Order: sequence, then structure tokens, then C-alpha cells
Amino acid sequence: MIKPLLLAGLFILLITSGTAQAETEKITLKMPPASLAQWYKPANKRQVWLHTMFRLRREMQAVKEYARQKDAAGTKKWGQRLAKSYRSIPEMVPEWRSEVRLDWADILESAAQQGHFKKVLRAHDKLDASCNLCHQDFQALAAALYRSPDFSSQQVAFKGRTVHYHKFMELLSNTLNRIKIAIEDQRPQIAKRSLKQLKTQLHALGENCSQCHQDTIPKERILGKETQKLLKGLSESIRDHQPKQAGRFLGKAAVAICARCHGVHRTLSDLRQFLAPVQF
Ligand code: HEC
Ligand code: HEC
Ligand code: HEC
Repeated sequence: MIKPLLLAGLFILLITSGTAQAETEKITLKMPPASLAQWYKPANKRQVWLHTMFRLRREMQAVKEYARQKDAAGTKKWGQRLAKSYRSIPEMVPEWRSEVRLDWADILESAAQQGHFKKVLRAHDKLDASCNLCHQDFQALAAALYRSPDFSSQQVAFKGRTVHYHKFMELLSNTLNRIKIAIEDQRPQIAKRSLKQLKTQLHALGENCSQCHQDTIPKERILGKETQKLLKGLSESIRDHQPKQAGRFLGKAAVAICARCHGVHRTLSDLRQFLAPVQF
């Protein structure tokens, strides 16, 4: 019933079959240089790197469209802008100097000035290839490292103490399983008491959502009316000595509360912890 809890695992090793003896295939990850951090929150007020990237994409599109239309003014204007933004990549992150083709940025800019549309388009393709190469290596990791919510510093206020997020998760997991075991072993008193604890714990967790969420919709989605209905059904089935039905409600509640939130938050949080471990 609580299988969905296991789904959020992060697989870093790929098992290859095909050889008689199964081998584990190791993958190498390239970490983005540390100097990238200065272009992201909290080191920066804005997500400067990301905005530079969005601008580059826009400028690449404009150059291509104007050059294809043989529009000299448009090609010149956007060619200049594109070259400038592209040159800012190694200025922002010097370690990435070898990832960019400044030679082709120069060629694109001067060809755009002179209205050599074919040459512009050729240079555009070369730059495009350099975008893709860097993205293959770094894009997903940079997003996970610098733009995924950081739960390592989160604490849940519970019974007058503060508990580290991952410790609190263990607590939740223990409570949930205690209910499951008690239902199976037909110990309704323990099941009832543990369910009360679970509700208190979920309430405490819910208070923490506002650390990052300004609106109440995400909390409502995970801990709102629908979830309360499932917990009520669970409570009534325990009271009425209906272990099968109680088990079903518990499984549904685990999906609605734990698995759905893990789908959004835990997978990324685990990835981030894997890339840049924080010790507790
Ligand atoms: C030296 C490395 C590097 C080069 C070269 C580079 N990028 Fe990026 N780009 C990144 C990284 C890292 C990210 C991930 C940023 C993030 O998600 O926070 C990114 C993300 C992006 C995104 C955001 C995608 C999305 O929807 O989230 C766009 C758009 C983009 N790049 C466009 C470009 C274009 C166009 C070029 C070439 C003209 C280019 N980039 C060249 C490193 C690079
Ligand atoms: C905010 C949404 C959210 C909800 C709701 C939630 N979790 Fe989590 N859970 C997380 C995040 C984020 C992590 C990874 C963070 C960490 O472990 O530091 C995590 C990690 C875990 C872990 C691994 C802990 C470890 O050793 O690091 C367990 C076990 C767990 N959750 C159980 C549960 C159970 C059981 C429930 C439901 C009763 C639940 N969680 C509800 C967000 C959530
Ligand atoms: C450390 C910061 C952080 C905490 C704590 C946090 N979230 Fe989130 N959550 C985010 C971010 C960032 C997003 C991405 C979308 C956004 O900004 O709303 C997100 C997205 C979500 C989404 C999907 C998109 C949406 O807006 O519906 C849900 C559902 C969600 N969170 C539920 C929760 C719940 C429930 C809690 C508390 C139990 C919680 N989160 C606690 C940072 C956090």
C-alpha cells in the first residue's frame, strides 16, 4: 500500500544487462564552476544567468529570422546584440572560456554589419552548436544546484522544538508505518493514537510551507480538504474495526500526502543533496 513512498528514489547507476555478468556502468558528472553561483540567488538579487540565457535565445531567433528574410537592418541590430550577450558568457564565468566560440561571434557580428546573410546563418549554426554542447554537460545540473528549493536548511517547529527536515521525515515515516502495523495486527487503540500523532505532525509540517510559498494553494493541494477526507475515512474505519478498509484509506493518504509532495520536492532535493552534500 505504501509503495509510492519508494518511487522517489534517485538512480545514479545504470545497470547494464547484455553481458553474462551484470555490470554497473558509472557515469561522470561535470559540475558547473563555483563562480556560476554569483549569478544566482541568494548571492545575486536576480537570476542573472538565466535571464542572460533567455536573452541569448531570443537574439539567436531574431538573427536567424531576419537573416533568412534578408532584412539588413534587423540582422545588423540583433547580430550586434547577440555578439555582445554571447561574449558576456566567459566574462561572467571565466572557467567557461573554452566552452564558447568567440571567433564565430566576431564573424557573425561583422557579417551582419555587411549584410552577408549566408555567412551570418553559418556563424549562427556554429554558435548554436556551442550552446548545445554546454547545455548537454551543465544545464540540468546548474538548474538543480541553483534553482531547486533547498530543504537542507529547513526546520519544522514541533512541540516547542525545531527539527531538521529530514529528521522530521523519519518521524512521519515511523508514525505512518506504526499505523499500518497496528491496523494489520488489529490493535485499534495504537492505530488511533498514532493517527492522532500523524495529524499533529502534518499540521506542523503544513505550517512550514509558508517559508517558501506565499500562496496557500500548494498546501491546500497536499494537506487540504481531500486529504482531510481520507484521514477521516481512515479514522472511522479504525473505529469500526474495518482493517481492510482502513488499509485502503491509509494507502490513499500516503499517495495524496507523501508521494505527491515527494514528486515535486523530494526527487530534486535528493539530487541537490547528491551533487552538493550538506552534513547535518
Ligand atoms: C558555457 C555554457 C553555456 C553556453 C555556451 C550556453 N549556455 Fe545556455 N545555459 C547554460 C546553463 C548552465 C543553463 C542552465 C541555467 C538554469 O537552468 O538555471 C542554461 C540555460 C539556458 C536556457 C534556459 C532554458 C530553460 O528553458 O530553462 C536557455 C534559453 C539558454 N541556455 C540559451 C542559450 C543559447 C541560445 C546559447 C548559445 C547562443 C547558450 N544558452 C549558451 C549554459 C550555457
Ligand atoms: C513538502 C512536502 C513533503 C511532504 C508532505 C512529505 N515529504 Fe517526505 N520528504 C520531503 C523532502 C523535501 C524530502 C527530502 C529532504 C530531506 O530528506 O532532507 C523528504 C524525504 C523523506 C524521507 C527520507 C528522509 C531521509 O532519510 O532523508 C522519508 C522517509 C519521507 N520523506 C517520508 C515522508 C512521509 C511518510 C510523508 C507522508 C506522511 C512525507 N514524507 C511527506 C518532502 C515532503
Ligand atoms: C524550501 C522551500 C519550499 C518549501 C519549504 C516548500 N516548498 Fe513547495 N515549492 C517550492 C518551489 C520553489 C516550488 C516551485 C513552484 C513555486 O514557486 O510555487 C514549489 C512547488 C510546489 C508544488 C507544485 C506547484 C504548486 O504551486 O502547486 C506543490 C504542490 C508544493 N510545492 C507543495 C508544498 C507543500 C505542501 C509544502 C509544505 C508542506 C511545501 N511545498 C514546502 C519551494 C518550497
